[in-house]
Amino acid sequence: MPENVQEQLTKHLTDAHSIEEQALQQLRKAPDIAGDKELARVFQHHLLETEDQERRVRERLAARAADPSKLKDLAGRAGGFGMVLFARSQPDTPGKLTAHAYSYEHLELAAYDLLALVAERAGDSETATVAREIREQESAMADRLAAHFDRAVQASLKDLEPDDLESQLTSYLADAHAIEAQALQLLEQAPAIAGDSNLAKVFRDHLEETRTQQTIVTARLEAHGAGPSRFKDVLLRLGGVNMGAFFGAQPDTLAKLAGFAFAFEHLEVAAYELLQRVARRAGDDETARVAERIATEERAAAGAIRGQFEPALDAALRAQGVTA
Ligand SMILES: [Fe+2]
Ligand SMILES: [Fe+2]
Ligand SMILES: [Fe+2]
Repeated sequence: MPENVQEQLTKHLTDAHSIEEQALQQLRKAPDIAGDKELARVFQHHLLETEDQERRVRERLAARAADPSKLKDLAGRAGGFGMVLFARSQPDTPGKLTAHAYSYEHLELAAYDLLALVAERAGDSETATVAREIREQESAMADRLAAHFDRAVQASLKDLEPDDLESQLTSYLADAHAIEAQALQLLEQAPAIAGDSNLAKVFRDHLEETRTQQTIVTARLEAHGAGPSRFKDVLLRLGGVNMGAFFGAQPDTLAKLAGFAFAFEHLEVAAYELLQRVARRAGDDETARVAERIATEERAAAGAIRGQFEPALDAALRAQGVTA
């Protein structure tokens, strides 16, 4: 049995390493899309941190792997936790880039929360310490991004005529609608995977809330005269922040499902934070008001999901015959 939890720890470390490799790719491109000097600096700074994170995770993997060829196999393992989550998305504006990055930092945060927990159960205090330290860096990066939502919107909207502002608002509303459609898809499937756990209850509760949110967003779209055909177009477009890969990812444990969902809720938080700002600029106070309220609901849902990381991890270990 102890061997089993050791294997789990190595898998989690491998996942963390994949996530960092993907983060490096994204962060090398991000400054060019940022459209704002300060925002670009935020990404550049985190690129340096991420290089260090990748190295630290690689060192922990090397310290644990007796057989280097086995280590190489693990490193090449496709799928895993974060690998495909955002692989195909290509944010086209500073706003979408920031939303995407904000969600990604929360995916990392979840991965390191889980890594620290598994490391504790495996008695590897050094890995647990590394995981907690990196988690704090991811969390701080997420906060910095949130502090730059204003600038991201400004950079996305600069040079637009007033008419374009109205069409931008409709576009952000349509993105919110598309994200809620994906949230519904996720939340309808999640309870079946989560069994009769508390996590399943969290998902069910948020499913109800999500239906209401989508109804509200639909009403705001209609208030802007977004007709059915245009509506359909934007639904297919999936909001520019492509979450399609999310559903192909198939998290292999309950804990990873929770981590994915946590990151997804933060994509929603970011979408509503941006929508709120665009709506204010367009003079639509009603949309700004509902966006602010829904962002608060998404944050609360994310918090409830994070509260289930530890029980979900222990349930996943039990399901795999690992005694913690
Ligand atoms: Fe990272
Ligand atoms: Fe990060
Ligand atoms: Fe949500």
